[in-house]
Amino acid sequence: MPLTLAHVSDLHVSTFGDTFHDRARIVKRSARVADTSAARLEVVWSEAGWRVLRERETRGKKLHIVDPDGYAHPLPSKSQSTLIDPIERAAEKACRLEARRAKTLATADPSLGALATLAESTPKNSNVRLLRAVRQVEASDVDFVAITGDLTDDGDGYELIEAAFDRWKSAGKLLAVPGNHDLYLFPLAGSGRPRPSQASKRAAWLAFAKRIGLLVQTCGAWVRELPESDTIIVGLDTCVRPQRRFFRHNGAVGEEQLAWLKTYASSNAWKSARHRVVMLHHHVVPLPHGVGRRAPSEIGMRLDDAKSAAEIFDEIGVTLVMHGHRHISEERQPAGCKFRLLAAPSLTLGCRSGDGPSFWRVKLDENVHSTRVYIDLEPVDEDEDPGISTEQLPEADIHDPS
Ligand SMILES: [Fe+2]
Ligand SMILES: [Fe+2]
Repeated sequence: MPLTLAHVSDLHVSTFGDTFHDRARIVKRSARVADTSAARLEVVWSEAGWRVLRERETRGKKLHIVDPDGYAHPLPSKSQSTLIDPIERAAEKACRLEARRAKTLATADPSLGALATLAESTPKNSNVRLLRAVRQVEASDVDFVAITGDLTDDGDGYELIEAAFDRWKSAGKLLAVPGNHDLYLFPLAGSGRPRPSQASKRAAWLAFAKRIGLLVQTCGAWVRELPESDTIIVGLDTCVRPQRRFFRHNGAVGEEQLAWLKTYASSNAWKSARHRVVMLHHHVVPLPHGVGRRAPSEIGMRLDDAKSAAEIFDEIGVTLVMHGHRHISEERQPAGCKFRLLAAPSLTLGCRSGDGPSFWRVKLDENVHSTRVYIDLEPVDEDEDPGISTEQLPEADIHDPS
């Protein structure tokens, strides 16, 4: 029986849909849960778990916005709103953030019209973009959805992914591997927002993997055997190695997963399958992003053991490798390799070539058929420090948020 799947990648959802790719709009909030127990505070507005608190001692001049998770948000200035009353301004900000919050969108099931309204004022919001993109994945009528990492921008927002892809999740047909954004940490100056730890990020990924029915081995890999479609899909974790330095996002499959893969490949199930598919986040070969362009810098981004991984993929007869990470849409059969390769761009932010978001619709029958399906969304430019090119920065300061 033929199998169809949507290869999507790099969703970059987050608590409020803000991403490192649009740093000017990062939602700042307290790094720790705010202490709101003091008797000096009174609630002057509340809705959906959000509160605006006033300090009694300042005769009502000092206000605080606190979100449903207990984090404090800065008050909007007069120039950020047409409202004159500061309490109304604070409530307006709370309502705007609440409407884009991953937890809220996960249960709200907003209509296309409602999503269009949200997108009008925040066109780069990845949470809103995901829900709009999924409508087009649904229209492509695929059996499985395979996500190749960077599901989240900073380890939060999994519930929105589960809600968006519920049709496949509830059928046990949602597959995923983690990316560097899901598991590694970012250099963030100051205390502008809560900071996850490597342990909290890994726990969130593993809990998500369990909820969608993936049996992740201790080495980080999982396997799904689909004998009715003559197919086996293996997921590899390229961030299974603890991050060495926080500005380094290099990945590695690692000896343990490669050994597991070789052992698994000796099974009859693997040897007799027609399609032997591997999903991973980091790229196996550097990819140019368009005709006449060089591959983007590899610093801090590469797969350290790409060579040995590719050799083993060929040795055990992998037929198709699917990955994400560089936000580049490309299909190729790399020189010197027997496997085919599909690189998916970001489903929410687009492709580095300048193309808008897209995904691969893959049909596996006697052959592999892949079609690029474009999503009707504009690409999101990556913000760079003004006037500073990555070539001018010392390696330690280079941050590429793919
Ligand atoms: Fe990535
Ligand atoms: Fe990414």
